Amino acid sequence: WAMQAPYVAAINRLKKERNAVVLAHNYMTPDIYHGIADFVGDSLQLAIKATEVEADVIVQCGVHFMAETSKILNPAKTVLMPDMEAGCSLAESITAEGIAEMRAQYPGAPVVSYVNTTAEVKAASDICCTSANAAQIVAAMEGDTVIMTPDKYLAQNVAKQVPQKRVVWWDGACIVHERFTPQDLRDFRDWNPGLKIIAHPECPPDVVAEADFAGSTSGIIDWVSREKPEKTMLVTECSMATNISDAFPEVEFLGPCNMCPYMKKITLEKVLYSLHSMTGAVEVDPEIAGRARLAVQRMIDLSR
Ligand code: 13P
Ligand code: SF4
Repeated sequence: WAMQAPYVAAINRLKKERNAVVLAHNYMTPDIYHGIADFVGDSLQLAIKATEVEADVIVQCGVHFMAETSKILNPAKTVLMPDMEAGCSLAESITAEGIAEMRAQYPGAPVVSYVNTTAEVKAASDICCTSANAAQIVAAMEGDTVIMTPDKYLAQNVAKQVPQKRVVWWDGACIVHERFTPQDLRDFRDWNPGLKIIAHPECPPDVVAEADFAGSTSGIIDWVSREKPEKTMLVTECSMATNISDAFPEVEFLGPCNMCPYMKKITLEKVLYSLHSMTGAVEVDPEIAGRARLAVQRMIDLSR
């Protein structure tokens, strides 16, 4: 990404002029991850960081629900989304009406919604979760039955970890993680003896069952830095391995490259345009933001 140096320099200059910080998800391309990000992390770390930002402007290098979450948690800041079309198949799979349907089907059961949802859905939920804390949050809910939306695979993986609860779910999935199959993992193991496989819990449970470890994107990075496997396959979005490979020169990263088309909408050119013109500010209706904040803040408080 050396070719991108002029963009990186221009963005870093503009960040100072605008008093802006760039919060970037682990799935961003390496030019963003290494070149312009002030903070990188998984969804939970980004949400917590958003509460702590003192700069005037947050540039969210990630997808739309992440920018909304930052705005909900720190409403006085201008939160810029370099491309409003950077959505998420999970966030698009459910509306507040869907939450109402689930509540009608399972009266009295608490609703735990993944942060990969719109502000309206968060506002209609009792609490949020991310892949880093989902099992902990579900275990802390009162009652026997817990509704998890919208990721059916995350819910099914959590159900195995929290057998004392009856977990019911919405029929959503991540278009990146649902593409992996158990056979992909078995093939890579056969071709690469000694391979360690790490899967994201948005993968189907039969895929997670073939892995040596499952965790959020930051959980995956922690696992690699702790275990230092000779060869590893990260069963998650493709940019993750590229982003962290420089930090682990002794680890060989193998596997198919599944990219998230939404995350890949964020480019240096769009970040530069957005910061230069101060366009793409995310707004959330204050009444919805107030209710959504309760659900996100409950999650943050329970995860500390
Ligand atoms: P985490 O970084 O929280 O594991 O989330 C993964 C993801 O798919 C975000 O869209
Ligand atoms: Fe959504 Fe999956 Fe893309 Fe994450 S990787 S933004 S969950 S579609």
